[in-house]
Amino acid sequence: EKINHNNYKKIEVVNGYLNLTISDNLLNSKIKDMNDSEKFGLKKIENEELFFLDYGGPNVAKPLHVGHMRTAIVGESIKRIIEFMGHKTISDVHFGDYGLQIGEVIYGMIRDNKKIEDLDIKYLDKIYPEMNALCKENEELKQKCADITKKLQDGDLLYKSYFEKIREISVADIKNNYNFLSVDFDLWQGESDSYKYLKSVEEILIAKNILKSSEGALIVDVSNEEDKKPLPPLLFKTSIGSYLYASTDLATIYERVTKYNPDHILYIVDNRQSLHFEQVFRTSSMANIMDYDKLEYLGYGTVNGNDGKPYKTRSGDAPKLQNLFDQAKDVLLSKKEMSAEVSNEDTDKIVNSILKFADLQNNREKDYIFDISKFSDIVGKTGPYILYTYLRIKKIIKNINDINLADLTNNIYNDYDRDLRLKILELPSAYLNAYSNRMPNYIAEYVYELCVLTNAFYQNNHINNEEDIIKKNDWVNILNITSKIIKEMLSLLVIDIPDTM
Ligand code: ARG
Repeated sequence: EKINHNNYKKIEVVNGYLNLTISDNLLNSKIKDMNDSEKFGLKKIENEELFFLDYGGPNVAKPLHVGHMRTAIVGESIKRIIEFMGHKTISDVHFGDYGLQIGEVIYGMIRDNKKIEDLDIKYLDKIYPEMNALCKENEELKQKCADITKKLQDGDLLYKSYFEKIREISVADIKNNYNFLSVDFDLWQGESDSYKYLKSVEEILIAKNILKSSEGALIVDVSNEEDKKPLPPLLFKTSIGSYLYASTDLATIYERVTKYNPDHILYIVDNRQSLHFEQVFRTSSMANIMDYDKLEYLGYGTVNGNDGKPYKTRSGDAPKLQNLFDQAKDVLLSKKEMSAEVSNEDTDKIVNSILKFADLQNNREKDYIFDISKFSDIVGKTGPYILYTYLRIKKIIKNINDINLADLTNNIYNDYDRDLRLKILELPSAYLNAYSNRMPNYIAEYVYELCVLTNAFYQNNHINNEEDIIKKNDWVNILNITSKIIKEMLSLLVIDIPDTM
């Protein structure tokens, strides 16, 4: 392509590379375009699509633990990133409410003469770990719990009334945790909501002739010649006639297609489930329920402690999510870096920023070490640092009157200034990378770099004392667009902004 020399102030060849230095005019006219248009000039999409997102996935009857944080945060962020593009979304928490854990809790309640109406979260927190441990040692007991689960699946009314109460109590507790994280779902459904579609799916699989019997069980052979490693078959129904995790996931795809007809379904689920989703997606495609390439498995890695093992809070064996929130708050307050007037509500927002920025700055597929002290520092690659920068520049802007935000000149005054402006121009590529790879870390990285340059900019350019009114006007303009970008990107990272800190 021909280079328009007016657009560059310097063109040189360095070590075989062509170095172009963008002209001040072009740089500023691009910033003005970004500033004047909606969503910073992001191109409007031609076809609006419907994305269905499946994340959260907590198991009813088990307390929400640290491991459940990442899917909630990453999922919510990906949802917002997709909406920012202009697409429609539906999110579903997809509770794990189908398996043995329910039978175990019902067994425990009956054993303890626990009345249904007396069930509370304290009892639930205690009974599941207890029963789970007992069942591990006692095969007979485990069988009894499995029988309860099976009867429940078959519609037993008494067990159903237990189940409904268990679900009600734990869902209320789970919702509190999500609420703290500003994570929200359109649908609060679970595996058990797919019961009524299991038969239809079974019929489809039979009609397509892909359901095979093997030692009394019903399976789908999903392997193909190109597989480098042998892929085990999908287990659809056991020999005693119960359905499994893969069956409910298939039935759920069927339900979603029938009710909402989404263009894509995205699953934000632990890396360790990749095989399961490969089997489910292939079966769904073979059965013409939904095409393989419309189903996306977005795996995520483990949140580890400093010892490299899955993170545990101080309370040890049952690392509940609530304990993690409390611990992060304690660490933050112990640092005494915030002003004393910060309200409780704002403190919670800052705690949120610690957790979320720690999580989202990492490539979701990778494990990372959650170092609570490091991530709560006010300097460094942390949520508090981003919030601090944002509040700081808002304050600078607020203290200056008589600024005409419409009039950005074509001047650039020094390298701090220029570097910040160049970074502003990188926003679209950071966003588009996050969108197309479903990787919020591109946005986290960008917003961090933007904040580093913003700090250098205002520390070296003393806007308040600037006497040249045109220069002052330009600089406030630049800080203003920067603050708009930070605000929007924080919202894509699910980080709420406090009033003070
Ligand atoms: N409840 C599952 C678990 O804790 C996660 C659910 C993920 N979503 C899904 N459609 N399978 O492992």
